[in-house]
Amino acid sequence: MSRLFTAASCALFVISMTSVDAKAAYDVAAGQKTYDTTCAACHKGGLLGAPKLGDKAAWAPRITQGLDVLVSKSVKGFQGKAGTMPAKGGDAKLTDAQVGNAVAYLVGQSK
Ligand code: HEC
Repeated sequence: MSRLFTAASCALFVISMTSVDAKAAYDVAAGQKTYDTTCAACHKGGLLGAPKLGDKAAWAPRITQGLDVLVSKSVKGFQGKAGTMPAKGGDAKLTDAQVGNAVAYLVGQSK
């Protein structure tokens, strides 16, 4: 019973994720600007446990989650083992698309 429930909620999660993000196309050049103004504060020097831009070893296991999951977590914020990633990097004025672009840039530079 509980296994069935888990499988069903996983499937629901996957469906809701794909319907939101499946067709998302990211603008890496625009993402670099958002990275420079907002994300670099932590992701350049590894502040507060943030994985550094270009640190392939730190990014490899994260990238396996897939870009859409990384974007969704970055928009909502999350508490990980290394530290706290604030929602939208702490800048609530950013749109979800801007955060997505910044993640695409960050990931593209780090693999
Ligand atoms: C205040 C510091 C801070 C800022 C600013 C910040 N981050 Fe983070 N970010 C973190 C920390 C800390 C982690 C690692 C959390 C963990 O895994 O424990 C993280 C992790 C991530 C991850 C990896 C997610 C995963 O599932 O492994 C992505 C992607 C990310 N940040 C994107 C961004 C983007 C895009 C921005 C700018 C819009 C941004 N971050 C700004 C602190 C920050």
